[in-house]
Amino acid sequence: MAILFWIMRLRGDGNTAEQTPDALFQNWQEWMQQNGQTFAGRHVVEIGSGRYARFGLRLLKAGARWVTLVDFYALPLEHAEQRELLRADCSNLGLDWDQVRARLHIVRDDVLRLSAGQLGEPADLVFSTAVLEHVRDPRAILGQCWAWLRPGGSACIWWTCATTISSSATPLRC
Ligand SMILES: C[S@@+](CC[C@H](N)C(=O)[O-])C[C@H]1O[C@@H](n2cnc3c(N)ncnc32)[C@H](O)[C@@H]1O
Repeated sequence: MAILFWIMRLRGDGNTAEQTPDALFQNWQEWMQQNGQTFAGRHVVEIGSGRYARFGLRLLKAGARWVTLVDFYALPLEHAEQRELLRADCSNLGLDWDQVRARLHIVRDDVLRLSAGQLGEPADLVFSTAVLEHVRDPRAILGQCWAWLRPGGSACIWWTCATTISSSATPLRC
């Protein structure tokens, strides 16, 4: 995965959450509405969120109560690059930086090593974009998501199928 990430950086194609967070968020909002889901008032956990927390800001803007982002490469909020990017996004989105810091939790770790207790509180919604197709054991990742959910919570997983060049997402209820 580290090599893939390095190649992506060299090619400059990064990831959608980093480069076009608004377009990605709009897709998610439409999908959520069509499937009777919402980010508002929920503890939202994103797995494989990438380096920067730009998408997390959109989740807060949409009313998420608490956002946890988990990725091997997630940069801490105090990291200069992360802070600069997010502060600029905050002013564009009309978000208060101090409130963002209080509601955004970044975990730089392996999803497979994380226990439910490390999330602070159980998740209402676990979701991911373009992660499962890159991992060796997608079933294990899904098992983790399931373990983190509170009863009645849901998991929305969006992946790309290379053979058909299409995307699918499935809401799963705990
Ligand atoms: C293709 S990128 C997608 C990033 C972002 N979700 C997007 O749509 O732009 C896949 C991400 O999943 C992360 N990832 C894959 N397996 C992981 C694991 N077991 N634990 C933490 N992060 C993981 C990688 O580090 C990478 O940032």
